[in-house]
Amino acid sequence: MHIDRLERYWIIAVGVVFGIFAAAIIASVVVFGVHLPSPVGRIDPAKIAESEFAHPGLTQDSDHAYTLHLVAKMWRFDVGSKEPQPTIKLPVGSKLTIIATSLDVTHGFYIEQHDVNMMLLPGQISEVVVTFNKPGVYHIICHEYCGPGHQAMVASIEIS
Ligand code: CUA
Repeated sequence: MHIDRLERYWIIAVGVVFGIFAAAIIASVVVFGVHLPSPVGRIDPAKIAESEFAHPGLTQDSDHAYTLHLVAKMWRFDVGSKEPQPTIKLPVGSKLTIIATSLDVTHGFYIEQHDVNMMLLPGQISEVVVTFNKPGVYHIICHEYCGPGHQAMVASIEIS
């Protein structure tokens, strides 16, 4: 079969570009540990009171490591305080593991200026680890429409 010279060059160029893309995907998984977000567990929302989410809130694991259990519900992030829009205070350099679920409907979970963007689904446990290296106040925002109180569903993380 005859392939024109220019056409052959283009076939080779496409093959090389495809190879670079494939190598980038493999490297991101193998070298940089990038994985698709997936739930770390399942939970029956009716039995949250008997689960690890019975008493949501912050626990300190070691010097700069903390774990936050959080339950999203219409229309607030429950971290164990009575405030409708709670603030979590942590020192600079804190590594926070967030373990979260939803009690009722699909909620969003987004932390300003950090690489955290999850959906919280009833029946599903989501987990993310984030390190706060800069002082400031970072809002946690529900960015998934969840009903008439959606716009008030905000919490804050204060790093000092
Ligand atoms: Cu919860 Cu919007």
